[in-house]
Amino acid sequence: MSRIYKIAVLDGDGIGPEVVGSARAVLESAAIKKGLKLEFIDLRIGMEAYKKLGRTFPPETVEAMKGSDGWILGPLQSGSYPNDDRDYPMNSGRIRKAFDLYANIRPVKSLLPSESSRFSSDVDLVIVRENTEDFYPDRNLYRGYGEFWPDKDTVLSLRVITRNACRRISETAFKLARARKKKKLVTAIHKVNVLIEGDGLFLAEARKVGESFSDVRLEEKLVDSTALELVLAPQDFDVILTTNMFGDILSDEAAGLVGGLGLAPSLNAGEDFAMAQSVHGSAPDIAGKGIANPVAEILSTSMLLDWLYSSEKGRGDESLFETARSIEKAVVAQLHSSDRQDRTTDIGGEASTKEFTSRLIARL
Ligand code: NAI
Ligand code: MG
Repeated sequence: MSRIYKIAVLDGDGIGPEVVGSARAVLESAAIKKGLKLEFIDLRIGMEAYKKLGRTFPPETVEAMKGSDGWILGPLQSGSYPNDDRDYPMNSGRIRKAFDLYANIRPVKSLLPSESSRFSSDVDLVIVRENTEDFYPDRNLYRGYGEFWPDKDTVLSLRVITRNACRRISETAFKLARARKKKKLVTAIHKVNVLIEGDGLFLAEARKVGESFSDVRLEEKLVDSTALELVLAPQDFDVILTTNMFGDILSDEAAGLVGGLGLAPSLNAGEDFAMAQSVHGSAPDIAGKGIANPVAEILSTSMLLDWLYSSEKGRGDESLFETARSIEKAVVAQLHSSDRQDRTTDIGGEASTKEFTSRLIARL
């Protein structure tokens, strides 16, 4: 018997309302067919919240998020929030930090048929990116104080790497490599030749965690040569384990191997909460035109269902698992269709976001 899951919906900025609206409609429809009971709770965040309440991350939103089982969030165009925003500085990183969503899971998988596409057809890797520290001042221990001006011509940037964060993200990566049953390979990406202490700690923890996973191999690679190898031989990777900034950059690069950001889903997960949010940003160049590709956000929501299925909140509830599979199956079938109305323009189709979505719902 399925319980009712509360899903908070936060549109975000730019193309956020378009892709989140699509993901929600697809999820709602798939859930009904599989007997999964969802209650959607619409919350305000970003510029929409600022216009109504003078703040981009209102306390009402934070409270309602705490009372929900999972969240679907669009991108936040935080760089254009006004200075009098009472929550300034606010961005996705702050949410990830505030709720300790320490693991950013970013699968990169070939979804387009090989014959019709210039993209790699056999990529299937997952980037596991640490999400709460590193060079990002919005989420390190001294939030908001990660960059300093010791004099008027110099900036010092603070990089925070902690043993605890390295250990738990390594555990996430090893567990994932085991569960995926692919190459059983974790590739730890670092720059230990220059970031000797921080990446030294990161690698030491990865090795220590790896000792308890005798069935999973650990490989270590420098980030710069990995950027090259991702382009030349993406098929060689399975689970990529890395710190925050390297994971941020490599995940956009890897998305380019399989069709671009419109096809790159992501989950931000901690022990108690998880948030579906595509890799992409607010795409101001196409916002409001109704042409955004919603696949990334749609597949992020199926990742959220899988997280609920494996967490205390939904353990053993098959309707979560089945709804996630039905969404993925429909997306793959639609992207393999030869009809250009079955794809958005970023991947060579002709469909608007709305047309794509209604065809996908019909396919479900
Ligand atoms: P972006 O990801 O928004 O866009 C990069 C390029 O990809 C653009 O040409 C855009 O049109 C295209 N694109 C992205 N998503 C697409 C989709 N679903 N369908 C079709 N095309 C898509 O990156 P950009 O331009 O660097 O950043 C724009 C804003 O987004 C910035 O303010 C940035 O801070 C913010 N941002 C927010 C993120 C978040 O909240 N998680 C993540 C990344 C950026
Ligand atoms: Mg990014």
